[in-house]
Amino acid sequence: MYTDLTQRRVLLGVGGGIAAYKAPDLVRRLRERGADVRVVMTEAATAFITPLTLQAVSGRAVHQALLSAESEAAMGHIELARWAELVLIAPATADLMARLAHGHANDLLTTLCLASAAPLVLAPAMNRQMWAHPATQANAAALAARGVTLLGPAEGEQACGEVGAGRMLEPLALAEAIAARLAPAGPLGGRRVLITAGPTREPLDPVRYLTNRSSGRMGYAVARAAREAGAEVTLISGPVTLAAPAGVECLRVESAAEMAAAVRAQVAACDIFIGAAAVADYRAATPAEHKIKKQGETLTLELVRNPDILAEVAARDPRPFTVGFAAETDDLTGHAASKLRAKGLDMIAANRVGAGLGFDVAHNALLVLWPGGDRDLGEADKLTLARRLIELVGERYAAAVGAARP
Ligand code: PMT
Repeated sequence: MYTDLTQRRVLLGVGGGIAAYKAPDLVRRLRERGADVRVVMTEAATAFITPLTLQAVSGRAVHQALLSAESEAAMGHIELARWAELVLIAPATADLMARLAHGHANDLLTTLCLASAAPLVLAPAMNRQMWAHPATQANAAALAARGVTLLGPAEGEQACGEVGAGRMLEPLALAEAIAARLAPAGPLGGRRVLITAGPTREPLDPVRYLTNRSSGRMGYAVARAAREAGAEVTLISGPVTLAAPAGVECLRVESAAEMAAAVRAQVAACDIFIGAAAVADYRAATPAEHKIKKQGETLTLELVRNPDILAEVAARDPRPFTVGFAAETDDLTGHAASKLRAKGLDMIAANRVGAGLGFDVAHNALLVLWPGGDRDLGEADKLTLARRLIELVGERYAAAVGAARP
């Protein structure tokens, strides 16, 4: 049984050494575990193996040049650096290790390594004298001290006929090591979860706004529970007084338009989207430039619809596993079921508001619906409910990903 790497994003850098001939097998080993592999070759690597071979086995265009208008238009190098969940360089030659150790950015691969926040793993491969040379050893030590993982090299017979340490680890061993490195630490390990929380504020004039009673507690609890489950969590929060949960990236916004823009900027990178925010459905058509003066006995405000962030996310193709919330004062199941259908969601968590539950209180009660099923998560404090909800999201997400796999 393989360690499941479904949808895990591995950037494979191939250096210019004879062991490059093993790169297609390595790609195959990673892909049979479900990983999405993109390959970057150094110029020297193309002397040992063709980009076409690696394109065929990875099912993706191979990246080579840093200053290429064509590659930048397809997937720019910064985008590629952000895309990677892990960067593996195999084979890592003495020259590549030296350039990495000194922070060079003189080709696409070294530039990506500098631009990426993803963990870097090297599989050194070179002649045994080159490996043993104090310069290479100093580079290896400098890289390791910086948190780079070195897998190998192995001892044995070398392509040059010598025997000693310098062989690249076999593709199977490398794939297993990468799988162990990426192995989920929890039910949502390695998944990226984007969550909205809190209210929005829709300005009427420089000092007044329309808002609602959401405190952000439910959404923040969901963010904390997702982080505890191993996910990388980004929280887009309306104005609340809560501190971001530990380990969660928090982006603060005010209005629905700002929340929508922040979600649009983040959503492509996420696996799961959870909309717990109480987004204002309407905003002032034209917020006044100056404070609105008291005049007649009545005042009419013209309001226009805000974008429906959740529906927009659910309509993307491809889209993340999309979870909405529904806050209802009556016919909880009926209203939630129709939102689930109308917005095309994978799941909706419905809460009955009022009677000490829902908005701006410590407790809530959730009934979760999805196409073809439902589960009552009961009544509890918001963190307990958030943990139950995340457990269920993990189950349904795994089922959805499993069903989508060929
Ligand atoms: O913040 P707390 O005080 O802890 O309260 C928690 C909560 C009650 C606010 C939360 O549990 C909750 O139910 N949030 C959603 C409230 C809501 O506005 O529901 P809705 O029925 O209006 O919207 C349905 C879904 O569409 C929600 O996921 C909402 O985030 C989303 N939506 C709505 C309108 C809009 N313009 N954009 C959206 O994304």
